[in-house]
Amino acid sequence: MLIGEKSIPRPLRWAMIGGGRLSQVGYKHRCGALRDNTAYQMVASAFDIDAERGRDFGVNLGLDADRCYATYQQLLAEEAKREDGVEVVSIATPNGTHFEITKAALNAGIHVICEKPLFFTTAEALEIKALAAKKGLIVGVTYGFSGHPLLMQMRAMIANGEIGDVRMVELQYTHGFSANDSADKFSEAQKWRVDPKIAGPSFVLGDISTHTFYISQLVLPELKVKSLLCDRQSFIPSRAPLEDNAMVLMHYDNGAVGRMWASSINAGSMDSQSIRVIGSRASLEWSDYNPGELKYEVQGQPNQIMHHGMPYLHESALADERLGALHTEGLAESWANIYLKFAIAIHATQQGDQTTLDNLIYPDINAGIEGVRWIENCVRSADNGASWVNYE
Ligand code: NAI
Repeated sequence: MLIGEKSIPRPLRWAMIGGGRLSQVGYKHRCGALRDNTAYQMVASAFDIDAERGRDFGVNLGLDADRCYATYQQLLAEEAKREDGVEVVSIATPNGTHFEITKAALNAGIHVICEKPLFFTTAEALEIKALAAKKGLIVGVTYGFSGHPLLMQMRAMIANGEIGDVRMVELQYTHGFSANDSADKFSEAQKWRVDPKIAGPSFVLGDISTHTFYISQLVLPELKVKSLLCDRQSFIPSRAPLEDNAMVLMHYDNGAVGRMWASSINAGSMDSQSIRVIGSRASLEWSDYNPGELKYEVQGQPNQIMHHGMPYLHESALADERLGALHTEGLAESWANIYLKFAIAIHATQQGDQTTLDNLIYPDINAGIEGVRWIENCVRSADNGASWVNYE
C-alpha cells in the first residue's frame, strides 16, 4: 500500500512544458507528480504557448517568476546553468511538438515524461530510444489510466492461468464529444486534434485507442499482434483524412483474436474505455468508468466482482493501492502511481540500479514506441482499403 512515504531519497526537480492554464491534461500531471510531495518538486515551467499567461499561471502555482520561462528552449538553456537545475520535464503539448521537445530535453541531459501518442512515426520513436540509452536517461509515457491497481490484478490472474488460454481480447475507448463539429471550430484542444500537421496520422486511434492498446499490453505482456485490419471513417467530413471512428480486428501470434473500437462519435456515451479478456475457462473485464471493480466470470459458476484494496488480491495489485477498500480510488490515484514509477525509474537510472529497472512495470519508451507502431499499422491497413496487413 502507498501512503505517501518517500520511495526515493529526495524529490526530483521537475518542470512542465505545456499543460498550462487552459490545457485539458495539465492538472492530471500535477495531480500525479505532486500527490505525495516526496517524489517531485515543481521548480520551473514553460506552461504555455502564450508566454505571459504561462508565467502568470506558474506564479499562481507558487513557482518563482524567473523560472517560468517563455519557451521550452529558454527553460532548457537557463536550467542547464543552475546547479539545482531541472532533472526531469513533463511534456504536455499538442502531439506535433513531442518529438522536437523530447529530443532537446534529452540532449540537455534531462529525463522526459511525455504525453501520448509519443511521436508521429516509429522511426522517430526508435531514434529517441537510442538517444535516451546513449544519454542514460528515461523516457516515460503518460498512459494515465494504466496505474489503476486492478490492472495488475488482471495481469497476475491471466499469468497464473486463472482464465485458461486467452482466446479473445475485446477493447473499447469511445465517447461522443465529437459527435458534431462544433468543438472543431471553437475548442483549441479539438482544432489541433483534427489537423494532421499537429495531431499526426490519426485522430481517435492516437488520441484514445493508444491508452487501451497499452492496457492490453500491460495485462497481456506475452501476446503479440500478428496482423490487423482497420476500417476508419470521418463522420464529420471536414476531419478527413483523420478518423473520428475506427474499428480494428486483430490476430495475435498465439491464435487469439482481438477487436478495438475507438470513437469520438459514440453520441451520448460516457462509458469511456473497457477491456474484456476471454479465456478458455473464464473472462476478466474492467472499465475505467468503475475502476475499483474487476469482473471475474468463470463459465458455469456465479459471476464474481473483485474489489480494489481487498486482501484476496494479488500482491502486485495491493502494492499500488492508496486509499484502501471501501474508499473510492480514481484517475488521480492512477496518475500518481505511474508518476511514482517514473520517479523510481529515474532514481534507479541515476544509481545504475539495473535490477530495479528490470523489475519495474511502467509505461516506458517501449510502451510509447508500441503506441506509435499501433497507429502506423492501423492507418496503413485503413488506407489500403481496410485490408489485413502484417503487423510490422
Ligand atoms: P490542449 O490544447 O488543451 O493544451 C495544450 C497546452 O500546451 C496549452 O497549455 C498550450 O498553451 C501549451 N503549448 C502548446 N504548444 C506549446 C509549446 N510549444 N510550448 C509550451 N507550451 C505549449 O491539449 P491537451 O488536450 O492538454 O493535450 C496535450 C497532450 O496531452 C496531447 O499530446 C494529448 O494527446 C495528450 N493528452 C493526454 C491525456 C492523457 O490521459 N494522458 C488526456 C488529454 C490529452
